[in-house]
Amino acid sequence: MSTHGIPKLTISSPTELSIDRGGQRFAIHPIWLRERCQDPASIDLATGQRLHDPSGLDLDLRLVALSEPAPGRLHVRFSDGHEADFDCGAILAEAALAPGDHDCPAPQLWTSQLGDPPRARWRGNPGNPDLADWTERFLRLGFILFSGVPPEPRQVLKVASTFGFTRDTNFGAMFDVRSTPNAIDLAYTSIPLDPHTDNPYRSPVPGVQLLHCLVNETSGGLSTLVDGFAVAEALRMRDPAAFEILSRTPVRFRYRDASTELVASAPPIELDVAGRLRTIHFSPRLDFVPLLPPADLSAYYRARREFDRLLCAPEFEIRFLLARGDLVMFDNCRLLHGRTGFDPARGMRHLQGCYIDIDGPRSLYRVLRRKHTAPARISA
Ligand code: OGA
Ligand code: ZN
Repeated sequence: MSTHGIPKLTISSPTELSIDRGGQRFAIHPIWLRERCQDPASIDLATGQRLHDPSGLDLDLRLVALSEPAPGRLHVRFSDGHEADFDCGAILAEAALAPGDHDCPAPQLWTSQLGDPPRARWRGNPGNPDLADWTERFLRLGFILFSGVPPEPRQVLKVASTFGFTRDTNFGAMFDVRSTPNAIDLAYTSIPLDPHTDNPYRSPVPGVQLLHCLVNETSGGLSTLVDGFAVAEALRMRDPAAFEILSRTPVRFRYRDASTELVASAPPIELDVAGRLRTIHFSPRLDFVPLLPPADLSAYYRARREFDRLLCAPEFEIRFLLARGDLVMFDNCRLLHGRTGFDPARGMRHLQGCYIDIDGPRSLYRVLRRKHTAPARISA
């Protein structure tokens, strides 16, 4: 979880509750507190959902009285006459989140120094400790590599359903990645694939991709992964102008076949409201920058080349053989993936893939974490 440091609550006056966070102290807004009331008049106890419209609260709402009836509990009387008890731990946990935070492990950016990717042994009926370990690893590194997934058709859907709901697309719930004549996508040939994110032409982009190897007996066909966030941060440091251009130029991505035509626009480096990396949209096979004045396009093309150069640099890439029974699951908004070319005449290579949304693994992580939440105290 990315935080502003461990915050602290203080009753700073009979009518003011303050928080210390990241070296800063400020009063908690009465409405912020009031809309978090957990009593049966405020929320439906079964769902936890609010029963009233908080936009109707008095904009001049004040705290009238504050007390600590028990350690870690807070009792508040508001100027609209409402009274409520709060769990200080819950207030502090929420206050610790930065704007736009997912309340999940912060990404641990990596480069080629990660080396041989760590593997997890797949189990068909995983217990909670396995699931907690796998989701945490996945959320930190942006990928997890399993061995021991039965090399049978459709097993990728079983693994996917452990972490979330399958995102069906025009390629189906599941797709076969193997070299075929008249391929509808270059992934279904034997040519090398440079680092790319999948389906940038879709809105929303599929959050997570899974690729499961049924057969890999050819020579070549190695899998590659790059941490797009690590590369983008390197670009931000080394070439801020290029970073800036790529984060504010929306690029159009397009996919077309006989029955489908998909178009979506996004900057190659998409930032969140706090300026942190949100999604990388990068696919050299599919990107079309809008027509801009020549000076702007020259700057854009220079920036794209620089980003591409780093994305393809050995400094950032890991490369490994996805062998029979291996499955890689990666964050398609953060990591770029690719493969080296192979010779289909030298042996078969057959992967099966599917997508899920990123909120599946995030939800699983939060549910598994619930039991470990520590109680919190208030300081007077
Ligand atoms: C894909 C893809 C990589 C591979 O199917 O999207 O990039 O290893 N495949 O064949
Ligand atoms: Zn791909």
